[in-house]
Amino acid sequence: MRILAIESSCDETAVAVVEVTEGAFRVRANLVASQVALHRPFGGIVPEIASRKHLEVIYSLTEEALRQAGITLEEVDLLAVTNGPGLVGSLVVGVSFAKALAFSLGKPLVPVDHVKAHSLAVFLERSLEFPWLSLVVSGGHTALFLVKSPTEHYLLGHTRDDAAGEAFDKVAKLLNLGYPGGPVISRLAEKGDPSRIPLPRPMLDSPDFDFSFSGLKTAVLNLVRSGEEFLVHDLCAAFETAVAEVLVAKARRALESLALKRMVVSGGVAANRRLRALFEAEARELGFEVHFPSAEYCTDNAAMVAVSGYFEFQAGRKASLDLDVYARSRFPKYAS
Ligand code: KG4
Ligand code: ZN
Repeated sequence: MRILAIESSCDETAVAVVEVTEGAFRVRANLVASQVALHRPFGGIVPEIASRKHLEVIYSLTEEALRQAGITLEEVDLLAVTNGPGLVGSLVVGVSFAKALAFSLGKPLVPVDHVKAHSLAVFLERSLEFPWLSLVVSGGHTALFLVKSPTEHYLLGHTRDDAAGEAFDKVAKLLNLGYPGGPVISRLAEKGDPSRIPLPRPMLDSPDFDFSFSGLKTAVLNLVRSGEEFLVHDLCAAFETAVAEVLVAKARRALESLALKRMVVSGGVAANRRLRALFEAEARELGFEVHFPSAEYCTDNAAMVAVSGYFEFQAGRKASLDLDVYARSRFPKYAS
């Protein structure tokens, strides 16, 4: 089965062609047109600019993906498209385009949830037995799920304010480091000492699986305003470590309370080296498996949309032409 997948939920237009043979995924094309440079002068994403740019590039990006995959549109068996959560104006571009293609080709279309797709990206490189714990950490989301099957994600907890990636972006902005913040903070942090600047570990001791990162951002802001001297490298290392330690501690509690031995960490922030290293050390110590998609499948891409689309299609899901978009996911809550 050949899947053409489309992703336009935020500031990246992405198109992928993924082939599935006996349950194994092979990525034949995975293109991402990033709008980062366009939004950089504004220090964050401008929704109106994002949707206009999606519209401009989606057609040619699809043509290029098909060319790289060496197939024609007629050889596509299934279309998958992200229809939420995300920026509504951006989502509408991808969804309308996918609907038009599906209608004109007479091929099935499946809707995909962006957060679920991040979580399932791991299948692009390995297969994994269920159940497992999933931690999705990106610019828009920070959430823990119990994953019982590819189509069943139960929400254990999520951020009450900023997402982890959003905190990276906001801290980078207040340090004048540019946008997006994650890659630049992690690069600077490599030469820093995380123990020189004490920062809080928000919600570390709360009994639930929720997160909060806005207080951490405020602590950085207060330090900057205090006029105290510090090395940016040290602050980046301290901030990155604080975020990573909270994520690891919450995940560990979830694994223990659900008696799970396997987990997946995905989303843009999962590309962070320190976070990966901390998770790997914890996994060795406690004896659980931790899996991360490669960096290119952690940040926004359409190959992950193809994976989720495949599983949804197998479960009998199919979109009609009145398929709508949504800004926020509504996952069923985990009940023990
Ligand atoms: O998954 P993603 O590409 O888009 C969303 O769905 O939000 O994640 C983007 C986020 C941004 O906030 C970016 O700063 C963060 O991921 N990010 C990182 C790193 N690379 C990207 N955060 C920490 N360390 C990184 N190496
Ligand atoms: Zn994402």
